[in-house]
Amino acid sequence: MKKLLVVTGGGDCPGLNAVIRGIAKRAKKENDWEVYGSKEGFVGVWSEPTELLKLTKSKTAGIHVKGGTILKTTNRADPLHYPVKDEHGNIVIVDKTKELAERIKALGFDALINIGGDGSQKISKALFDHGLPVIGVPKTIDNDLSATDMTFGFQTAVQIATESFDRLVTTAESHSRVMIMEVMGRDAGWIALHTAIAGGAEICLIPEIPYDVKKLVKRINARYDNGRGFVNVVIAEGAKAQEGSIVARAGDEGSRHVRLGGVAYQLSQQLKDAGVTADIRETVLGHTQRGGTPVAFDRVLASVFGVKAFEMVLNGDFGQMVAFKNNDFVSVPLEEATRDYNKVGESNYLIQAAKGLGVSFGD
Ligand code: F6P
Repeated sequence: MKKLLVVTGGGDCPGLNAVIRGIAKRAKKENDWEVYGSKEGFVGVWSEPTELLKLTKSKTAGIHVKGGTILKTTNRADPLHYPVKDEHGNIVIVDKTKELAERIKALGFDALINIGGDGSQKISKALFDHGLPVIGVPKTIDNDLSATDMTFGFQTAVQIATESFDRLVTTAESHSRVMIMEVMGRDAGWIALHTAIAGGAEICLIPEIPYDVKKLVKRINARYDNGRGFVNVVIAEGAKAQEGSIVARAGDEGSRHVRLGGVAYQLSQQLKDAGVTADIRETVLGHTQRGGTPVAFDRVLASVFGVKAFEMVLNGDFGQMVAFKNNDFVSVPLEEATRDYNKVGESNYLIQAAKGLGVSFGD
């Protein structure tokens, strides 16, 4: 029997379980493979005794509809940046990927499928370079990996954000308020941009386009002046104001330093300081965007990634990551997969289209 190890690392994401099930189901069609999952990222293989879950039919049946990961995951124990004590008792960060690759081989595994985002795929690359046969599967709600046109979890996050946005529109209208909704996305504005188009936002603020507070004030006041009387804003967690566009308040260093809980609150304060008198409310969606069942598209993407990843193991296509490109499922070298972030380019047609729909980016 050959043995395959499956790991889910980094933040959780709707669709992880669908990948796990895809791998397990496809492997079952071969008679000579056993599939194991490591609990909590690589913690399961580091532990003594190991904490491994045999991915049998009964453990994986029907899990594609469930959010999270049955294997659990963690941001701790990153083997590329592993905290250990030096001889003086100080914590130092070391690269343990060589040791980890040897440990996995010593446990009798013939291959590893590592499901994770940018950080996880850097680990995949390091383990592969240390001689472990590895396949990567991309995962992130942020959709910020350049080697794949789409990551699973992204469509679910956009769906959840859009549903929340729709609810905020009716309450904004009833109270003639400015509603600011903050979404995730790390340094990329994909979730915000898609939500703004799907929901019909007046304003969309993303990290790729620093906003001018004064332009936002103009846009908001115009909405009140022309009788619409309410404004819905989507702001990505990484969005920033243009230097010099923030109104400093007497006695402090300016509202860019006011940080009550996220950029939604920061923006709210910046708008008030710059003269918006309408009532403003803030909503931070946070981890709701990563929870619960994946939408159908993400189930499909994740399930096919699982099947494809196992077939890459069978074909010996190691050192590669499965990807969705030009409506096809392909493999890309891990090196390429970890090279660039996929951010929303200013020339991206979605930006132009959103502007055509009347969305302001505050630029
Ligand atoms: O990368 C996915 C993501 O959800 C980002 O959108 C967000 O910035 C981050 O992870 C939150 O991480 P944590 O779950 O560690 O708070």
